[in-house]
Amino acid sequence: MQKRFFLRTVALAALCGASGLSLAQDNAFKIGLILPMTGPFASTGKQIEAAARLYMAQNGNTVAGKKVELIVKDDTGTPDVTKRLAQELVVNDKVGVLAGFGLTPLALATAPIATQSKTPLVVMAAATSSITEASPFIIRTSFTLPQAAVGIADWAPKNGIKKVVTLVSDYGPGIDAEKFFKDRFLFNGGQVVESLRVPLRNPDFAPFLQKVRDAKPDAVFTFVPSGAGAALMKQFSERGLDKAGIKLIGTGDVTDDDILNSMGDVAMGVVTSHHYSTAHNTPTNRKFVDAFMKANNNLRPNFMAVGGYDGMHVIYEALKKTRGAGGEALLNAMKGQIFESPRGPMFIDAQTRDVVHNIYIRRVEKKDGQLWNVEFDTIKDVKDPGKAR
Ligand code: PHB
Repeated sequence: MQKRFFLRTVALAALCGASGLSLAQDNAFKIGLILPMTGPFASTGKQIEAAARLYMAQNGNTVAGKKVELIVKDDTGTPDVTKRLAQELVVNDKVGVLAGFGLTPLALATAPIATQSKTPLVVMAAATSSITEASPFIIRTSFTLPQAAVGIADWAPKNGIKKVVTLVSDYGPGIDAEKFFKDRFLFNGGQVVESLRVPLRNPDFAPFLQKVRDAKPDAVFTFVPSGAGAALMKQFSERGLDKAGIKLIGTGDVTDDDILNSMGDVAMGVVTSHHYSTAHNTPTNRKFVDAFMKANNNLRPNFMAVGGYDGMHVIYEALKKTRGAGGEALLNAMKGQIFESPRGPMFIDAQTRDVVHNIYIRRVEKKDGQLWNVEFDTIKDVKDPGKAR
């Protein structure tokens, strides 16, 4: 009688007591996903959150006995806010991973928090080459601008484009794109007659495009961040650059799949180089695109979504390998991963902690009344050329 009472008491204490609660806490693995969910870069946040949730819906939320919890925070695209949110997530929520980072300045502002707290930080969007050097705890699953820019710098001179004006957003990724395009294009015998930089915030492309028109190049090479391409394309056609026979080339950010369909016929024929197209024709990607569109009211996944989806994959696989342990062990388990992504084969270089993947040359074409970035050439296994400096 006494023994039964004792057992019942112990069982009750385990179920309802403080020890029960801490058990549940220990069993959670929290991912702090910081993204611009409002403001001019909200499409990046929306794409990455949707992709992360899709990954969890497809792969379950229990990994190595831990319950994975996603905590999504809106930084509005402001570096001070990103940094403060990261601090709160590490100190108060005890997240095991910081992830997201929609723009370069947001990732750079947060890098010291990752280093100080030894928390792995997965960059799913930002793409300036130097980001991975800002903390040994950073892993990148997006891409780098030097990777994307050299592809089109090789293609253009072989295809009648000899004289170019560059036009980029005036911050990290734009400056990377300008430099790496220019160096490779000059090496290939091309000529860059002018280099223009447009403010990142509230850009007015019109006066810059007028300058391009006056310079009469064969093409304008451009980088603008995801979401800004539609405004550029509109001005390009309103200023009559297409009618003047000036081509538009760039990294694939400008013909972002998220907004490509809204650009209209002016986008047709635009050639870009990039690591991901929604139209990438493999079973893995078709499955990803179908599931993403089904779960998101027919929204197309863009390259930001793929950065988020692959970032979740890297975290899940690392957790399996460490059997749920975090910190430096988790970081080490992220290094060197190789897998088949919707973008194609993907590898996290253990030395640089940066992504190695194919870069595709693509042309905007209309199929079944819709615009797509149709890939027609592949440069295999491209490492970040920015790392060789
Ligand atoms: C960046 O800020 O690093 C960035 C943002 C959007 C892009 C590419 C790079 O499309």
